[in-house]
Amino acid sequence: MINKLNLLIFYIFICNLSFSQEISDAKIDSILSLLTLEEKVSMCHAQSQFSSPGVPRLGIPELWMSDGPHGIRAEINWSNWDYSGWTNDYITAFPALTCLAATFNPSLSNHYGISIGEEARYRKKDILLGPGVNIYRTPLNGRNFEYMGEDPYLASRMVVPYIKGVQMNGVAACVKHFALNNQELWRNHINVQVSDRALYEIYLPAFKAAIKLGKSWSIMGSYNQFRGQHCSHHDFLLNRILKTDWSFDGVVISDWGGTHDTREAALNGLDIEMGSPIDTMRSTRHAFDANFLGSSFLEMVKSGEIDERILDDKVRRILRLMMRTILNSARPLGRINNTEHSYVARQVATEGIVLLKNKSNFFPLNPEKKLTIALIGENAIKSMTTGGGSSELKANYEVSPLEGIKKRFNNASIIFSKGYTSDSSDQDVKSLIKDALEKASQADIVLFIGGLNKNRGQDCEAEDRKELKLPYNQDYLIDELQKVNPNIGVLLVSGNAVSMPWLSKVKAVLQTWYLGSEAGNAIADIISGDSNPSGKLPFSFPVKLSDNSAHFFGELSYPGDGETQYYKDDILVGYRWHDTNNIKPLFSFGYGLSYTTFKISDIKSDKKVYSDGDSLSITYKLKNIGINDGSEVVQVYIGKSDSKIIRALKELKGFKKTYLSSGKETTEIITLNTSDFSFYDESISNWNLLAGRYEVYVGNSSDNISEVISINIK
Ligand code: BGC
Repeated sequence: MINKLNLLIFYIFICNLSFSQEISDAKIDSILSLLTLEEKVSMCHAQSQFSSPGVPRLGIPELWMSDGPHGIRAEINWSNWDYSGWTNDYITAFPALTCLAATFNPSLSNHYGISIGEEARYRKKDILLGPGVNIYRTPLNGRNFEYMGEDPYLASRMVVPYIKGVQMNGVAACVKHFALNNQELWRNHINVQVSDRALYEIYLPAFKAAIKLGKSWSIMGSYNQFRGQHCSHHDFLLNRILKTDWSFDGVVISDWGGTHDTREAALNGLDIEMGSPIDTMRSTRHAFDANFLGSSFLEMVKSGEIDERILDDKVRRILRLMMRTILNSARPLGRINNTEHSYVARQVATEGIVLLKNKSNFFPLNPEKKLTIALIGENAIKSMTTGGGSSELKANYEVSPLEGIKKRFNNASIIFSKGYTSDSSDQDVKSLIKDALEKASQADIVLFIGGLNKNRGQDCEAEDRKELKLPYNQDYLIDELQKVNPNIGVLLVSGNAVSMPWLSKVKAVLQTWYLGSEAGNAIADIISGDSNPSGKLPFSFPVKLSDNSAHFFGELSYPGDGETQYYKDDILVGYRWHDTNNIKPLFSFGYGLSYTTFKISDIKSDKKVYSDGDSLSITYKLKNIGINDGSEVVQVYIGKSDSKIIRALKELKGFKKTYLSSGKETTEIITLNTSDFSFYDESISNWNLLAGRYEVYVGNSSDNISEVISINIK
C-alpha cells in the first residue's frame, strides 16, 4: 500500500514537472523523503562503468554518462573497459577542443555544443563528460588537445556557449578536470603546490565561467592532489570555492578511480563516485557496494559518524540534475550523423586551422592546375579519431587528409608516400625515406603531413610527451625533402606545440589540429583557398622547451619529484611569460596568418579616466586591404607597466572575430570592465583594483600590437 502510494505521489510529481518544467527545492524534498537510506547511498556511486543507479521502486531513472568532449564515445561494457561491439554507436567526430579554441569564435562553440548535445541525447546519455578547460601549462601534457589553450579568458569565453548548447538538449555538461590537472605524468597522485594568486587568476577562471555563466549542471573532480588532498574530494576546491563561493547547485562527479577515502569523499563535496574498484565476486546489484561511497558510507551514516544531511545534500543535487535532464519530458529527442552536424564539424575544423607561415603566397594552391602534388607523411592517412584515451571515438566516417585533398584537387596528380612510421615494429625505415624522396623529387609541390598522433606518449591520456621535437625522425625527413624539392609546405597535425628546426627551409606551415570526421575536407578547404584561414593559436609555441615557463624553473616545477610539484612559474603562464621576460616564442599566442591583409586603426577608448565599476568601450576600425575576403580576430590585452607588484606585460581581456570582404571597412567595439584590470591580492584574499595608469593593447596577436593606448582608473 505504502509503495503504491509513493509511486502515485511520484508520478503526480513527474506529470507536474512535465508541464511546468520548474524545479523547486520543495519538489526535490518531497521525493527525498520517500527514499530509504540504502536507496540514497546507492545513488551516490556507480552501478556500471558509465551509469549510476536510480530507484526502480519509485521509477527514479538511472543516469547515463559518456565521454566527451569531441563526440559521444562508443558503448563500453557494464563492468570492464572493453567496447561492447554495438553497431549503432557510430557518431560524428567533432574537432578537438584546441581547434575549437583556435577559431576564437564563441558562436561556433555554441553550434558545436548544440550538435554534440543532440548526439548525446540521441544516444540516450544524460551527462556528457566534457568540455575540458585545464590550462595549457606545458607542451608535454598528453591531454592538451582536449582543452582550450593557455589563456583563462579565451577558455572562459569559449566554454560557456559550448555548455549552453549541450544543455539546451536536456543533457548535462560535466566540465573537467577540476582542478590543476595540467599534466598526465603521475596524474593520480601528483601534489600540486600553487599560489592562491595563480590559482584564481590562471587555473580557476574557465571553471568559474563554466559554472557561473555557463551554468554547467555537473563538474568532474580531477585525479591529482592540490595541497595534499585529492581533488575529487577536496574541501577547499569543492566545498568552499565551488559550492559556497560559486553557489554551484549541480553534481560533483569523481574522475574514474579518483576517489580514495570514504570519509573524505562524503565530507569534501563529492556527489557521485565513478570508476572505483568493484567486488567482481558479487552480483551486478552489489558489486559496486565496494565503492568508497557504497557500503562503508552507508555504515557511517547509519552509525551517525556521518550526518544524514550530508547524504541528503548529495541526493538533492542528483535529483535536481535528473529533473534538468532525464526527468525533463520536454527535452528534445536529439539526432545523429546528420548533415548539419557534419557542417558544424567542417566549419569548426576550417575556422580553427592556423596558417603559421606562407612565404611567397605558397598557399592557396590552385585546384584548377594540373599539378603533381606529393603528399608525404603518415598523418595523411592515419585515423586521428581513434586513440588518445577516453576521448577516442567511433566515427561514422573520417575523411583523411589524403582523401580530402584528392577529392578537391581532382585535376592534379596526387602521389602519396608514408615517409615515416609510428609503428615501431614496422618495416624498413630507410626504404620509407627513399620512396618519399623519390616521389618528392618528381612533384611540382610537396606537402608534408606529419606532426604528432594519438598514440601513447604523443597526444594521449595517461602519459606525457618526452620531448618537444617531432617523433619518428620527422625533422630529418623534412630536411631531406626540402633538399630534393624546396617547393614544400608542412601541415602539422597535433594538439600541442612542437619545435621546428626546419622552419626557415620550408615555404609554408599550417597547424591543423585533430579535426575529426571532416579533417580532410577542412584541410582541402584551406589549401585550395575555398576558405581563407582565420584560426589563431590558443597557446604559444616555444623555440625550445626551457623557453616555456613551467620548464624554465626545472624539474620541481615540471614534472615534480614524483610526489610534489611547485608551479614556480606562478601567474606567468604561456604568453604572459614570453612577453614579460622578452623570450621570443617561435609562434605567439593569438597568432595566425590569412590570405588577405587587415589593417587595424583609429583605436580609441570612450574616456581617458574611469571609476571603479565603469565599463570601457574600445573602438577601432578594421579594414580588409588585401584581395581576398576573410575574417580577422582583433584582440585586446591590458597591462600595467608601472605596477609595483608582478604583473604580466599583457593579459587578454577581449577579442572579436569579424568577416570582411576585400576592400571593406568596419568600426567595431570591444567592451571591458574596470574589474578586468584587477589582480588577485593574496594579502586580502580577494580581487583588488589599484588606481592609476593602465595600458590597453589592440592587435591581431599577442606579439603584433597595432597600438597601445593609456587609460586611468580612479
Ligand atoms: C578521464 C576522464 C574521463 C573518464 C571516463 C578518465 O580516465 O580522466 O576525462 O571522462 O576517464 O572515461
